[in-house]
Amino acid sequence: MLMPLARTLTPDSDGVVQAAELLRAGRLVAFPTETVYGLGADARDGAAVAAIYAAKGRPSFNPLIVHVADMARARTIARFDDTALRLAQAFWPGPLTLVLPLTPDHDIASLVTAGLDTVALRVPGHPLAQTLLRAFDGPVAAPSANPSGRISPTRAAHVLAGLGDQIEAVLDGGACAVGLESTIVGGAPTALLRAGGVPTEEIEAIIGPLAAAGSQITAPGQLAAHYAPRVPLRLNATRATDGEVFVGFGPGDCDLNLSATGDMRDAAAQLFDTLHALDALGKPAAIAPIPDTGLGRAINDRLRRASVR
Ligand code: TXA
Ligand code: MG
Repeated sequence: MLMPLARTLTPDSDGVVQAAELLRAGRLVAFPTETVYGLGADARDGAAVAAIYAAKGRPSFNPLIVHVADMARARTIARFDDTALRLAQAFWPGPLTLVLPLTPDHDIASLVTAGLDTVALRVPGHPLAQTLLRAFDGPVAAPSANPSGRISPTRAAHVLAGLGDQIEAVLDGGACAVGLESTIVGGAPTALLRAGGVPTEEIEAIIGPLAAAGSQITAPGQLAAHYAPRVPLRLNATRATDGEVFVGFGPGDCDLNLSATGDMRDAAAQLFDTLHALDALGKPAAIAPIPDTGLGRAINDRLRRASVR
């Protein structure tokens, strides 16, 4: 028998109500955030969370990010010190995830945190994610909605292509505006655990220099080979050799361009879309250098991981 294909839910109140009902019933629903699409489940329901790992084919129980609608809900789950409060004030709702100590009376399933006494929390800014979190009225655990080790989805079609036979539904909110996963910070002193949608420079402007990553806590699951397209990628290339597709950045001759105007935000938003397109073309690719500042750091981090075979 054919596996049932996920339903596509429309970005209106009807779609949101259905998505919230499915979450309440312990089902998996993919939904858009401003970073990438998330594969959501009720974060209080251990069986629903276990289904996330099964659907993604995650080899181990890496802790997941918990999405909440606002600070009031966030404070029932985690303890905020002064630094965390300043970061939340500056960047929430938005593409920042804070790893914080759990409160004693939190209601998050232990599988979400993989048994750690900390939790990764995020208040997404995407209007549909916000509406869904408010309609559901609870915490939603969600990793990126892609099979383990593959490219993160920035469109509903990517979710369906990767997980369509594994999940109940996808709420279609179009293309993700940021296109890179959230920046993750945590620990005391605060360290960068994953470069992402908020440039580190902007974080350091609020709280001062970040501590070196790896000095205390790390983000498990930050494997070298990740975001991997099926085709080989050659980075920092000035041109393509025979048989390669050339991906440019800025003006100039190329087959695909992350941003013809050299705009870093456009490049971030295009990145995973471009990797999905390279997969579809099935040819090796050469990729132009991206400046390693601002969002460029997160872009280069993803490209390095994508190029590991
Ligand atoms: O933009 C995003 O962050 C997307 C959207 C859907 O929100 N989500 C996402 O989730 O990228 P995921 O599961 O692919 O990445 C979550 C990362 C993992 O590397 C995990 O190890 C780390 O967060 N993490 C989660 N809880 C943690 C904790 N308590 N301590 C340290 N790292 C944690
Ligand atoms: Mg992921």
